[in-house]
Amino acid sequence: MPADQLTETRFILADHLVRELTSEFGSPLYVVDEAHMRAKISRYRAAFSAVWPDSELTFATKANSTLALIRIAAQEGCLIDVASEGEFRAALLAGVPANRCHLHGNNKTEQEIAFAVQQGINQIVVDNFEEIETIYRKSSGKTCPDLVIRLAPGVDPKTNAKISTGQADTKFGFNIADGSGEKALLLALSHNLPVVGFHCHVGSQLLDPTAQINGGEALALFAAEMKQKHGFITQVLNVGGGLGIHYHGESRPISVEEYCRNLVEPIARILRAKDLNPKLVQEPGRSLVGESGVTLYRVGVVKTVPSPAKGQRTYLAVDGGLSDNPRPALYGSLYTVLHTPGQPRELVQESTQEYTVSGKHCETDKLFEDVMLPPDVKSGDYLQVLCTGAYNSSMASNYNRYQRPATILIRQNGSYSLVQRNDTYEEMFARESVPSDL
Ligand code: LLP
Repeated sequence: MPADQLTETRFILADHLVRELTSEFGSPLYVVDEAHMRAKISRYRAAFSAVWPDSELTFATKANSTLALIRIAAQEGCLIDVASEGEFRAALLAGVPANRCHLHGNNKTEQEIAFAVQQGINQIVVDNFEEIETIYRKSSGKTCPDLVIRLAPGVDPKTNAKISTGQADTKFGFNIADGSGEKALLLALSHNLPVVGFHCHVGSQLLDPTAQINGGEALALFAAEMKQKHGFITQVLNVGGGLGIHYHGESRPISVEEYCRNLVEPIARILRAKDLNPKLVQEPGRSLVGESGVTLYRVGVVKTVPSPAKGQRTYLAVDGGLSDNPRPALYGSLYTVLHTPGQPRELVQESTQEYTVSGKHCETDKLFEDVMLPPDVKSGDYLQVLCTGAYNSSMASNYNRYQRPATILIRQNGSYSLVQRNDTYEEMFARESVPSDL
């Protein structure tokens, strides 16, 4: 079926709101729809528990750690995955109890581990041998959080190499095939640490679930083997996140219902055969919030230049770019871009023409290429970029001393709240000092 006949799953802001919000809050501007995000989470939870009733969904805050969004995820019943002390502090500030949080990280500092233990975090996902020793030291005399051992299942997902994590040659977790996973379990148990299970996360923005299915199977087989060899009873199996979203064109993920079914069936078969009945956990980020957010830009310069490749190219320069969305530059990511006239106006023609959208940074930051928009886009119009709810605000920087954009939350009753204002120049420079003798 052609993509345009399929149901639209992405949040799209109405033209009048594009104008209203940018005139009130400026641009670039991140906008997230609360109802959309809540609906995504509750659909995901329902799909997961339909195939494995003893299941938990964890929100990976790296996708978007804006406090209001963490609170929404927690209110919708998610556990909260944090990958640093900063993300953990964000969760605590958002009102999430420490005992609903899980700490990740391939190189956690002693300080991060000590803080997590002291706050009473629910779970630490253990990544390496050094960390087992650190947790042992930092938790002596205190209640040690539950430990889940991260495994590298040796699965190579079909996605950008920068966001593949399940293969054998990875910095994440303990290799299963070379025996490191088993050694990690035995080391932790020898210290009487409360190991409850295993974890893997094979990659991100996966539209084909094969890698996650293979990762889940490897995890379940490992759990079965550890029961057989050591009598270890797995209470928790966390199969990570990674389900993709509909960024562009016809590249769509399968439905979350189909995904959960495909993922859980083989795991369930292996577990049942070994009489294991752990809690199953998934920890998606992008698929819970990515499609709920958009970014609004204002078009500044419109410039047509000769192009050896295309004859000519028309650039639309917008008032943001690399600093609010580094994903096109980092991963070659494609996005869907929509146009809103600065003032309501009749379209000259129904037709479209090709544009290249560039940012305003000091490099050739072709943000979005081959964008088809009406032929009369002009300075003062707006562009709405879909699917920026994940890995945009959380990856934004101050490159070129730009202020990171604000985030507006469209509330369920249609009103809106500023949930993160943009940086001020004062705070941008507050960290710095020039030595008086310089
Ligand atoms: N769990 C772990 C251990 C992870 O490392 C990640 C993502 C997730 C869960 C959530 O994955 P998701 O469901 O969001 O795919 N900056 C990149 C994405 C990096 C993802 C890193 N880990 C991007 O913009 O595409």
